[in-house]
Amino acid sequence: MAEQAILSYLETHEEIADSGNFAAECGIDHAEIVNAIKSLHGFLYVESQDIKKETWVLTDEGKRYAAEGSPEVQLFLAVPAEGSIAKDELQKKFDPAIFKIGCSQAGKNKWVEMGRQVSRKVVQVEDKVKDLLLKIQKAQVIGQADINSLKARKLIVLQTWKGYSVRKGPSYAPQREKFATDLTRENLQSGDWEKLKFKAYNFNAKGPPSECGHLHPLNKMKDCIKRIFRMMGFEEMATNRYVESSFWNFDALFQPQQHPARDSHDTFFLKTPSTTMQLPEDYVERVKQVHESGGYGSRGYNYEWKREEANKNLLRTHTTAISSRMLYKLAQDTKQNGFTPKKYFSIDRVFRNEAVDRTHLAEFHQIEGLICDRGLTLGHLIGVLEDFFKRLGMSNLRFKPAYNPYTEPSMEIFSYHEGFGKWVEIGNSGMFRPEMLQPMGFPEDVRVIAWGLSLERPTMILYGIDNIRDLFGHRVDLDLIKKSPLCFIGIK
Ligand code: PHE
Repeated sequence: MAEQAILSYLETHEEIADSGNFAAECGIDHAEIVNAIKSLHGFLYVESQDIKKETWVLTDEGKRYAAEGSPEVQLFLAVPAEGSIAKDELQKKFDPAIFKIGCSQAGKNKWVEMGRQVSRKVVQVEDKVKDLLLKIQKAQVIGQADINSLKARKLIVLQTWKGYSVRKGPSYAPQREKFATDLTRENLQSGDWEKLKFKAYNFNAKGPPSECGHLHPLNKMKDCIKRIFRMMGFEEMATNRYVESSFWNFDALFQPQQHPARDSHDTFFLKTPSTTMQLPEDYVERVKQVHESGGYGSRGYNYEWKREEANKNLLRTHTTAISSRMLYKLAQDTKQNGFTPKKYFSIDRVFRNEAVDRTHLAEFHQIEGLICDRGLTLGHLIGVLEDFFKRLGMSNLRFKPAYNPYTEPSMEIFSYHEGFGKWVEIGNSGMFRPEMLQPMGFPEDVRVIAWGLSLERPTMILYGIDNIRDLFGHRVDLDLIKKSPLCFIGIK
């Protein structure tokens, strides 16, 4: 309808001078006229020129005063013509904002005497503010000084109005020609197709965004790290067990039973089943021995090792529990078939009984790598770490001596973060102790170098996320997942 109105009008008139007036004359919504102009313009039926008009319009407060009168007049009228009224009494008649503005304006105008008692100082007042507001509402012109004072009181604001002037365009026709968008069977049968005009293809049109799934940043990071490990010749360990016995999680790792990490404040223990069913008994015996009295050149911890403590089920606190199982298996295989060097990795979830804050969750993911071979040294570990982290885009590493019950020596790994302008801890590493490897049954000269880090830390650094709860858990915004980059340049 809007389109036809425009085309018909232009058939007999040079120009539509103002789309706003035109819309009002036709009784069509201006927005609709504007849409029709844009569409006709696109097909060169019309030419159009922007018109911008700035008009003053009433704010909500302005509208209220235009209807009810200005606060100062409302206040004046509430004061008796003779005598006076107590200020408290007067106040009760108004809402607080109106009363406050009314008092100050009526006082400024010297209309009333304000004290404990309020009385009139003039006989009659005019509501100039209301009159001005009504004029603006009717689009009448008012003086600049009045505009300024209404604007200062935030009763009016400037609104920009956009419209168009319209003339015939190079392809003008009194009726829009209909183009066929499809060539149908009927067109072919009837012979229509010879006369039909077809709509040109728009090869520049954007297609609708394709609906597809999106990978979570942690999954993308996990894939990327898996690829790095595989390129470096590592095999993935099977991590499909969240529930682990204390034995594999702690004891096999030479972590003493009174170690604070084994407290329920730090570890989630299971209620059912609360204990493990099966452990390799002869190995358990050797682990007990090494805890109690050492061996293999160690003095042990010198305490009474308790089987019940080792049997307790828990949610694994680190993936090193998986490494201990795998190394035990490898040692058994070594006894039968001789030793084969191995490179293993895992990336999976671990659980800790921690207070949740912006950098900690009670569950997170660990990345773990280990190499088991004869004659490995700390130098090998540093070299492998440098290679591994370089592929993640971190080439500037520093190492700091650290302590783990199962590694000696141990090193924390730091990387210089250009964005943060400081060294940040990115992982932990070390050489597994003989007290861990020897009871498993490895030959004496077999060494294991290993390291672990959280998956969340590098993901947060890479994706610029500073609160872990924005990355993982129920508060994650799906848009983060949809909009996160597909890949990062510089990571292999
Ligand atoms: N298990 C350690 C942690 O949870 C990481 C680690 C793995 C350290 C292997 C040394 C060797 O932080």
